[in-house]
Amino acid sequence: MAPAGTVADDGTIAVIGAGYVGLVTAAWLAECGRHVRVVETAPERLGMLRSHVAPIHESGLQDLLTTVMGDGRLTVTDDVGEAVRGAGITFVAVGTPPLPDGGADLRQVRDALGQLRRHVGPDAVVVIKSTVPPGTTQALIDASPRDRLKAPLVTCPEFLREGSALNDCRNPSRVVIGGDDVPARARVADLFHHLDTAVIQTDATSAEMIKYGSNAFLALKISFINELARLCELIGGDIDVVADGLGADPRIGRAFLNAGLGFGGSCFPKDVAALDEMAGFHGHSFWLLKAATEVNLQQRRRFVVKVQEALGGSLNGKRIAVLGLAFKPGTDDVRQAPSIDVIRQLVDFGARVTAYDPIAGPKAEPLIPQATICTDAYDCVRGADAVLLVTEWPEFEALDWSRIAGLVRRRLVVDGRNLLDERLLNDLGFTYLRVGRRPAKGARKRRRATAPLASPAVG
Ligand code: UDX
Repeated sequence: MAPAGTVADDGTIAVIGAGYVGLVTAAWLAECGRHVRVVETAPERLGMLRSHVAPIHESGLQDLLTTVMGDGRLTVTDDVGEAVRGAGITFVAVGTPPLPDGGADLRQVRDALGQLRRHVGPDAVVVIKSTVPPGTTQALIDASPRDRLKAPLVTCPEFLREGSALNDCRNPSRVVIGGDDVPARARVADLFHHLDTAVIQTDATSAEMIKYGSNAFLALKISFINELARLCELIGGDIDVVADGLGADPRIGRAFLNAGLGFGGSCFPKDVAALDEMAGFHGHSFWLLKAATEVNLQQRRRFVVKVQEALGGSLNGKRIAVLGLAFKPGTDDVRQAPSIDVIRQLVDFGARVTAYDPIAGPKAEPLIPQATICTDAYDCVRGADAVLLVTEWPEFEALDWSRIAGLVRRRLVVDGRNLLDERLLNDLGFTYLRVGRRPAKGARKRRRATAPLASPAVG
C-alpha cells in the first residue's frame, strides 16, 4: 500500500523540466506508449505547451507533440505534486547552468528534489537526467535521512544531440543507468527494453563519469584537429584530407574531426569546464581539459585575425556579413555559439556586421545588439567587404553564389566550417579562405605584418 500523501504507481511517468532534454525524453516516452506528465514552471514555455506548441526547435518534435498531446498521452502542468502523484518513475531534467568558476549550478536539481520529497513515496523511482558532476547522485543518495528521498534515486545521463535528439532517443548508442539500488535500476532499464542497444548498469558515479568523459573526449578530439589545422595553415597540408586519413584508423574514428570554429552549445563548453573545476576541487589539474578550452577560444580569435589580414590589416569601417548564428546546424540554439564571440570581436575592431541564420536570428539578436540581423541571406551579404561562414547550414552551400558575387563589395569568403565549394567560388572570382589550409603566397606575406592574435579579449 502507498504511504500517506502518496498514490500507488499508476504506470505514469513524470518529467520535471521541459527543456531540450526533458521535453524530448517525455515526448519519446509518450511515443513508446507511456502516459507522461511534464512539469514546467516558466510561464512562456508552459503557455506554449498548453497550446501543444513546442517551445524549442528540434527536428520532429512538434509533430510528435501534436500527436501525443492530442491523444492525451503527454500532459503538462506547473504543479509537481499533481505530476508525480501516482507516477512510478520521475525524471528530473532541470538545468544545471555554469557558475562563474565553471562549476555546475545545482540549485534547480536541489529545488526539484526538495519538492519531490513531499510527494514521492518509496514505491517510486527518481531518476536524475540532468547533467550533474560525478559524485553528485551518490552524495544525494547518502544524504542525511532528513534530506533524503523516500524513493530510490538513480542517474540516467543523456547523450542527446540537438537537432537529432529524437532520433538519438529512438536509436541510442547506449543507455547508462547508475545507482546502488538494483531493482530501481532494473525498473528504469525496462523503459528501454524494446531498443536494440547496450544498457550499462553501474554505480552512480561511474554513470556520471561516462557522461562527462564522453563530452570531454569529443571536445578534445575537436580541439586536437583544430590544432592540426593550425599546423596545416603554417606548414602545408589540407586538414580535411588529414582528418579523413586519421579517421580511417578505427581506433581514432572520423567523427568529431571536422576542423573549424570549434565547439559551442549548451553542453561541451559547460561540461568541460565543470569537469575541470571538479578535478581542481579534488586537487587534480586536468591539463587536457584546460588545453581543449583554450584551443577552442583561440580558434575563434584566429578566425577574426584571418579576416582582418585578408582585408589588409584593419576591420575598422568594414562591412562584414556573417552567415550562421546557431552553434551548429539544425537548431536555433545560440548558447556558447562561436558566432556570438566572433561578431563581438568584429564589432570591437570597428566592423559593421550584418548576420543571417535560417532560424536562430531572434535568439541571437539580444546577445549581439550591435549587429543587424537580416531575414534573408542575400540582403545580409549586400555591400559586404567579406562574407563569413560560421555555421554549416546546408542551405548556405545551396545559395546562388553567382548572385552573391554581384551583390558584395569585395569578393572575399572566409569559411569557418570548410563547407563551400572552393572551385566554384574561385571561378566566380572570390578569394576563398578556409580552415586548415595554407593561404596563398600573397596572403602569407600580409600575415607577418599583423601581430598574431592581436584581438581584444574574447567575451
Ligand atoms: C553534445 C553531445 O554530442 C551529446 O551527446 C550531449 O548529450 C550534448 O552535447 P550537442 O551539443 O547537441 O551534443 O552537439 P554536437 O553535435 O555534439 O556538437 C557540439 C559542438 O561541436 C558543435 O558546436 C559543433 O559545431 C562542434 N563540432 C562537432 C566541431 O566543431 N567539429 C566536429 O567534428 C563535430
